[in-house]
Amino acid sequence: MSRTEGAHTITGSELWQWWQMARQQALAQQIDPAEVDWLVRAISDVDGLSLRLQSFRQRAAIPCRYGLPALETLWQRRRQEHIPVQYLVGQTQWRDFTLQVSTAVLIPRPETELLIELVHAAVAQTPALEAGTWVDLGTGSGAIALGLAKALPRAHIIAVDCSAEALALAAANAAANGLCDRIELRQGHWFTPLADLRGQLAGMVANPPYIPSAMVATLAPEVAVHEPRLALDGGPDGLTAIQHLIDAAPDYLQANGLWLIEAMAGQPATILQQLQQHGAYCDLQRHRDLAGLERFVQARCQGPQGSRRHSQ
Ligand SMILES: C[S@@+](CC[C@H](N)C(=O)[O-])C[C@H]1O[C@@H](n2cnc3c(N)ncnc32)[C@H](O)[C@@H]1O
Repeated sequence: MSRTEGAHTITGSELWQWWQMARQQALAQQIDPAEVDWLVRAISDVDGLSLRLQSFRQRAAIPCRYGLPALETLWQRRRQEHIPVQYLVGQTQWRDFTLQVSTAVLIPRPETELLIELVHAAVAQTPALEAGTWVDLGTGSGAIALGLAKALPRAHIIAVDCSAEALALAAANAAANGLCDRIELRQGHWFTPLADLRGQLAGMVANPPYIPSAMVATLAPEVAVHEPRLALDGGPDGLTAIQHLIDAAPDYLQANGLWLIEAMAGQPATILQQLQQHGAYCDLQRHRDLAGLERFVQARCQGPQGSRRHSQ
């Protein structure tokens, strides 16, 4: 929150008492108490260090986006209706960006940040890719596209989503983070809006929907009820969108172009087999997230002529 946004003030002592109580309620309900910290940080100028040291307690007046009663209402909605705090305050942190979010988009996850590190590593190995055209397919809030734009200052980034609402948020986030001249937005089904770029893409990065359809309803209500099904449901085995990205990408990637996706734990071995069977890919790799789970798959495209299958 910028300091000028604080339309209310809460004393440090009042906010500290509320914070203590809310953290206890979180623990009792098996909610991560870090969510309370996150809520306080999102509505005030209190930072992570002063929360850890509890030094905000000494402040006479803390400028806040909400007064204490409204903060308490938000927190009770989080507890009772299982609405993620990010949707309640309309924003989240991802890498070094503050992103606007709504229930039209998935809340970008910390593990997805690793995709940008993998892009860094791939470009270090093949510097010629850096100044090319990169696509973020299924951009949602625009998180990956923004991450690519910052990581690859000479690249042109295209963010694609079939949802007009998601693209509107991605556009707002690009503008708010000073990156709107670096990111082009296109609406449509995966590669369909990129017909003019066949054989030209330096890289394709995606966090596609990968949850098997029957599993979606079994997820925590914060996800199953409040996050958009379009962002979650990956078809009967969770791999419908991923198989499409395997089949279609060789027509769009340049030779040696990067194919990189996030997947669900347990899926990478199957995805590697599918890439191998396709015949247009080489340098197949899988990577782990910070919890040690295999969650990312990357490959290089041998170029359009290497493709055994043809897709639209
Ligand atoms: C798992 S979310 C990822 C959002 C964002 N990239 C992130 O990592 O936070 C998947 C995204 O794919 C989009 N999507 C689903 N089906 C699509 C399709 N057929 N074509 C393009 N985008 C699609 C959804 O709207 C959603 O924004």
